[in-house]
Amino acid sequence: MSRIAAHADLLAQLESRLGRAGLLTDEADLAPYATDWRRLFPGRPLAVARPADTAAVSAVLAACHAAGVGIVPQGGHTGLAGGATPDASGGQVVLSLGRMNAIRRVDPLGLTLEAEAGCILKVAQDAAEAQGRLLPVSLAAEGSAMLGGIIATNAGGINVLRYGMTRGLVLGLEVVLADGTVVDGLRALRKDNAGYDWKQLFIGSEGTLGIVTAAILRLVPRARHTATALLAVPDPAAALRLLEAAQDELGDTIQAFELIARDSLALVAEHAGLASPIGESDWTVLMEAGSSLPGLREAVETLLGEALERGDATDGVIAESGQQAGSLWALREHITEAEARAGKSVKHDVSVPIPAIPDFLAAAGKALATQAPGTRPNIFGHMGDGNIHYNVLIGPEHDPEAINRIVHDAVARFGGSISAEHGIGQYRVDELVRHRRPAEMALAHRIKDALDPQGLLNPGKVLRARV
Ligand code: FAD
Ligand code: MLT
Ligand code: ZN
Repeated sequence: MSRIAAHADLLAQLESRLGRAGLLTDEADLAPYATDWRRLFPGRPLAVARPADTAAVSAVLAACHAAGVGIVPQGGHTGLAGGATPDASGGQVVLSLGRMNAIRRVDPLGLTLEAEAGCILKVAQDAAEAQGRLLPVSLAAEGSAMLGGIIATNAGGINVLRYGMTRGLVLGLEVVLADGTVVDGLRALRKDNAGYDWKQLFIGSEGTLGIVTAAILRLVPRARHTATALLAVPDPAAALRLLEAAQDELGDTIQAFELIARDSLALVAEHAGLASPIGESDWTVLMEAGSSLPGLREAVETLLGEALERGDATDGVIAESGQQAGSLWALREHITEAEARAGKSVKHDVSVPIPAIPDFLAAAGKALATQAPGTRPNIFGHMGDGNIHYNVLIGPEHDPEAINRIVHDAVARFGGSISAEHGIGQYRVDELVRHRRPAEMALAHRIKDALDPQGLLNPGKVLRARV
């Protein structure tokens, strides 16, 4: 029996509730929803449900719950851990939130934005900017990633140093539970200690505990002045000294502090045709500060001058305009795409305590050179948050899982985490079990069992599916 025939009743029920535009079943229509951004996890949806409002999401979940069919929520499908991709069985329904994309309200005085889960991050950022406010989550995929995906992954990005992870920006949340129950917690409150803060369970749960349908996010005032600098530094220890000096001199105006290895810039030059405007160096730092008070640029110039004098930087440039700042950021933002074009790579989205970064980099480099010769690390990331993307380009002779273990073992030696911001998805399920304590995993399963006893929400993501 075909997969459609096997689930004919469910599909008929979904089509009658969602209308023809709301349910895709033709192979050609399903293709864009089937495979992840990196093309690592090819899947096969039974169908794609495209609800237009929360009531329709609730109806889809209730119907799948009654039929015992798994649901895979999907936003912009830019996730890097295969979390939004169905398995290859042809038996899971993808729930695409893309049609629920309204911005309901921007409140410049209350500093909040309320929007539906399918609103694209860049669209929400622009709506905040139009009111002179900033939605401070920013990442290279912001033109496609959606608010529901950002919340479900607790996304990080380049501004975590100053504004924290997405979790800290979610004031109110509306979710739909596995059986279709709608839980409306859309409150625009900064302080709210009335009972359990249940929304935290759903933020970062990667669609395994409930579906995010709408949210109220915290905005911040926009800084009138921004200073963006690119600096060549001799080694990661010098970059750390620069970070410390920047924190001393610029305080909490620093909003981004990114580390980029020479090989990452070489990939960007080769595959994106973008060249760094400063002298070559083993390591480069891209930093940005923002303030509405005058004197920011002068403070950054002083910082840069002192770093050059100390030898912690060997060259540097401060952007003269917004356009120049954009060109400096383009070098950083094209690394992921350049890496994808360069061939096969193994991603490691790791974090270690900030002071341990230089020793971790040395240890991981040594372990790879001895245990997996011929691999090429592509190292970059959010150094100010202790989050390094220690990605490794490999050849056909290398085993990706062995490379994972080598890098993650180094991370563990420094008390780090195997996912700082991308999440577990289906990519790191086994590694999570290896790196989290049994009691932590048991607690995670108890939460999952309480909220999704049939295991229908994003089966096999974050936690091993219970068959
Ligand atoms: P999807 O990929 O569609 O889904 C991600 C996960 O969330 C899946 O498990 C999915 O099932 C679940 N999900 C999606 N929507 C919902 C919903 N409404 N309710 C419940 N669950 C849902 N990430 C960072 O953190 N920092 C970065 O700097 C960063 N840079 C990136 C750069 C590039 C070039 C790319 C391609 C990706 C990058 N990412 C980064 C990863 C990715 O963009 C983020 O994880 C983003 O938050 C995913 O949003 P999305 O809408 O694309 O989610
Ligand atoms: C980024 O910071 O650009 C992404 O999170 C990293 C990646 O592609 O590994
Ligand atoms: Zn990142």
